[in-house]
Amino acid sequence: MSKYRIALMPGDGIGKDVMDAAQIVLDKIRLDAEFVPAGIGWEFWCREGEALPQRTVDALKSCTCALFGAITSKGKTEAEAELVPELQGKGLTYRSPIVRMRQSFDLYVNLRPCRAYKGNPLNYRNDIDLVIFRENTQDLYSGVEFFPLPQEVRAALEAHSRSMQAFKGVPAEEIAVSCRILTRDGCRRIIRRAFEYARQYGYRSVTLVEKANVIRETSGMMVREARQIASEFPGIELWEVNVDAMCMWLVKNPQDYGVLVSSNMFGDIISDLAAQLVGGLGFGSSGNIGDKFAIFEPTHGSAPKYTGMYKVNPIATLLAVKLMLDWLGETDTAQALEKAVTDVVAEGKVRTYDMGGSNTTLEMAQAVASRL
Ligand code: NAI
Ligand code: MG
Repeated sequence: MSKYRIALMPGDGIGKDVMDAAQIVLDKIRLDAEFVPAGIGWEFWCREGEALPQRTVDALKSCTCALFGAITSKGKTEAEAELVPELQGKGLTYRSPIVRMRQSFDLYVNLRPCRAYKGNPLNYRNDIDLVIFRENTQDLYSGVEFFPLPQEVRAALEAHSRSMQAFKGVPAEEIAVSCRILTRDGCRRIIRRAFEYARQYGYRSVTLVEKANVIRETSGMMVREARQIASEFPGIELWEVNVDAMCMWLVKNPQDYGVLVSSNMFGDIISDLAAQLVGGLGFGSSGNIGDKFAIFEPTHGSAPKYTGMYKVNPIATLLAVKLMLDWLGETDTAQALEKAVTDVVAEGKVRTYDMGGSNTTLEMAQAVASRL
């Protein structure tokens, strides 16, 4: 029996291209793992009315962790229109399978390292090395939303919040509400993981990114919990920055920051900003990590126009493999893989289109694999 069972979910579009690239590296490192293919994405939605089939969920439950490519998702009306005729008009609604996997497996950490690899022509600066801990299950992504606004919900809001007065008289079908829900435990665990990571990897600061001066209750809870947890980690400073200012600082002085921690939505936004500082979508990797299970993925989407062209940069996915190896405790292999990526980028001979080159997805993967 293999040491690990790893689910492989290429998904849609270039998800398949980059997963083929990952396979080249996985073959080369000879990880003691059994790979379990698992279906996810748009074609499953169209054919089965379910982008994350139950058999995939079951397969994931039997695995140590998973590697995921990308999926296509579309708006409500478009999604319904693409269902096979038998499934149309049945009230099926498309839900993002990624958000669902995060929530159902309680993968509360979204880990997004943003490191500038020397020689990458896309770097904004060469001295950036930051890591974002984004809460992955709560906040505005909880799915507690209303449109039109039901009378009972409105009445409750009016009874409990004076600020609701501002919306008095707006008809139900002209008002939409999305709830920002944070729990104390949800705040504590993401902040704790961020501090533990800072301690493990020698970062001297953890920056909490919120907006507590305006969003007093939810962001306020993050701040309170962060201050308390920070007191357990002497030697690591807690910096508190508002999300809007953080966007400015990340453009001005990204090299000053180490570990950043935030709630789901702000974390999502700063992650994309930070990713762009170190090469953009071709370099952005992430881990969705819980206490018992984890799913690793490039942060880019399915880039439909490049499907099957083997044109896109697989480094994001190879770095996701690196994060997976770290999580599995295969630290030496993880380091070797990151070093191989570093060397290929520094050498600059093999480059995909986004880096100004003309090498293919698989050539890039082979270049990395050849150094392992
Ligand atoms: P996208 O990330 O798929 O692509 C945007 C553009 O970025 C591409 O057209 C391409 O020019 C570039 N790009 C993306 N990945 C690249 C790579 N590895 N190397 C070089 N260049 C790369 O975002 P878009 O076009 O907004 O969304 C396409 C589909 O993907 C949509 O259906 C969207 O919902 C979905 N999506 C899925 C995500 C996921 O699976 N985690 C995340 C983001 C979007
Ligand atoms: Mg995003």
